[in-house]
Parts: sequence; C-alpha cells; structure tokens
Amino acid sequence: MVLRMKATARILNGIEIAAQIKAEVAEQARALAAGGITPGLAVVLVGHVAASEIYVRSKVKTCAELGMFSEMLTPPESVATEELLELIAGLNARDEIDGILIQLPLPAHVDTRRLLEAVSPEKDVDGFHPINVGRLQSSASHGVEAGTALAPCTPAGIMEILKRSGVPVAGQHAVVLGRSEIVGKPVAMMLLNASATVTVCHSKTVEIGRYTRDADILVAAIGRPGFVTPEMVKPGATLVDVGINRLTSLDEVERLFPGDKKRFDQFVQRGSTLVGDIHPAAFALAGAYTPVPGGVGALTIAMLMKNTVQAAKARRGAALLCEAGAGRSEEAAAKA
Ligand code: GUN
Repeated sequence: MVLRMKATARILNGIEIAAQIKAEVAEQARALAAGGITPGLAVVLVGHVAASEIYVRSKVKTCAELGMFSEMLTPPESVATEELLELIAGLNARDEIDGILIQLPLPAHVDTRRLLEAVSPEKDVDGFHPINVGRLQSSASHGVEAGTALAPCTPAGIMEILKRSGVPVAGQHAVVLGRSEIVGKPVAMMLLNASATVTVCHSKTVEIGRYTRDADILVAAIGRPGFVTPEMVKPGATLVDVGINRLTSLDEVERLFPGDKKRFDQFVQRGSTLVGDIHPAAFALAGAYTPVPGGVGALTIAMLMKNTVQAAKARRGAALLCEAGAGRSEEAAAKA
C-alpha cells in the first residue's frame, strides 16, 4: 500500500532572516565606528500619514539599535516642492549623512519624481534614483554586494529571503504580480539578473491564472487581499507575499479565513486583521511561502540599514582609504 502524505509547506521566516542581516549590519557599523565613522540616515516625513509615521519611527529606532545615527525631518503637509528640494540639497551636502530616505507617498501637490531625482545617487538608500535604477538594470547580478547599485529595499529583501533559504532561482519561472516602481519592476529585474525566466503580470493582464499556474516562484505585490487563490498556484511553488492588507470588514475575514477561530477572535479583539495578496488557503499547496505578517515586510527595514552602511562604506570608507593612501605616499616621498 502506498501512503500519500501531504508535504507541509516550509515557512520562510522573514523575522529570523531580518535578525541575521541586522546582526551583520551592526557588526559592519562597529567596524566603521572603529575608524571614526558612524553611518547616518536622514528620513524625511512630510505631513501626517499614520502608516508612514509608524514605519519611520521603526526605521529611526532600528538605526539606534544597530549603532547608527539617524535624523528625522518632518516638514508640514503644506510644504512646497522647492522647499523640499532645498532640504534635500542640504542633506546631500552634509558629510555625516550617508543615506537619505523620503518616505512615500508624498502629498499630491509635491513633485515626487523631482525630489527623488534630487537625492544624490550615492546617498539614495531607497534605490529610486534613475542612476541606481539604471545600474540595477545593467547589473549582471542582483544586490548591493555586486557593488552595482543601491537596490530598493523590499525587492532586495525578497532576494535575500530566497538566497538565505536556499530557494533555487536560476532557470526557474518567476512570475511577478504588479509592476510598481517600488516592488514589481525592480524585483522582476533582480530575478532576471539572478537568471530566472521572468513574467510580469499586472492589472491589464488577461487571465492571470494562466501565468501563475506555471510559476515556480510567485511574487504577489498588487495590494489586493487574498487575490491569489489556490487554483492559481502550482503545487510545490515558492510563494512570496508582499501584500499587507488590513481587513476591517467581518465579511472579508469570513471569506478569507473561513472557520479560523483564532483569526476571528483576533479580529473581534482588535477590530482588524492583516492578510497578504495570497489567499491563506493557497499556502497549503506551496513548497515554501512567506507569511503575512512576519515575511517580506520584516526585511524592508533590515535592507535599508544594510544599504545605509553600504553607502557609508562606499563614500566615506573610500575617502578614508584614499587619505591613508595619500599619507603613505607622503611618507614614501619624505623617505626618498
Ligand atoms: N513607502 C512604502 N514603501 C516605501 C519604501 O520602500 N521607501 C519609501 N521611501 N517609502 C515607502
């Protein structure tokens, strides 16, 4: 008799991977501190968007935990683009600032593109400047280790999860749902750089399931709760869920978590619950998946910290080496 056991999907724990990366960053920050350099991050938060305020506080707190310096700038909602451009120019000019992050979204009257392009590419820890977007596009391999670009944090975090979990990427069919500048487009490019065969689906794609059913790696980044249903998933696939959707309606909770008493109780207690872009029932089919919360979201801040140290090393570490080199050649000249 052949017993068929259903394999349990492996959970790709973003919190654990983020903790590893943060420990590595703290080590690098200590090494830089020994050379007199404290990596510094400036975060610009315009107005009062509740979710942005929570993210930014978390970024500032993590800097302190890892031995890095941070500064938060909070212009009012009414600030003009020109004033913000001046503020960015000031940050570009300050030596102790290695990374500049402009928290998005900005108010509608602000010219977001102009601002992102005003950030010095060497301090662009979000990887949104066209120079860094271009470097990523022309890179032979993903990520900052390749020394090619400061890469956007969420996509870089996804690549770290796959790499550190031993999920093969080269030769696999990776399907990305979503074509945003922050996640969809850059992660598609990073997967391509890592030799996956990449398909990008979006709101105009006809019959998305045709593509997702063939995905070895499925990255969902479209901001629609539980969009990827079990019939859209190839059994054994790796599911990467970038969505963080807050459910506030009981109907939605019952649709996505039928019979899940724990989830229902949580909803009653808190008035909301989180779900990703992948339907929870689809995870049972996966070979591996990132949970929500505790998956991709956990990596974003860790990758921002990694980028900030990388930017400090590239800009000030190089300067230090040059100074040391100049010192040696002066000594050599004196001896000659
Ligand atoms: N808002 C949501 N995600 C991001 C991000 O990765 N960077 C910035 N600057 N703002 C965001």
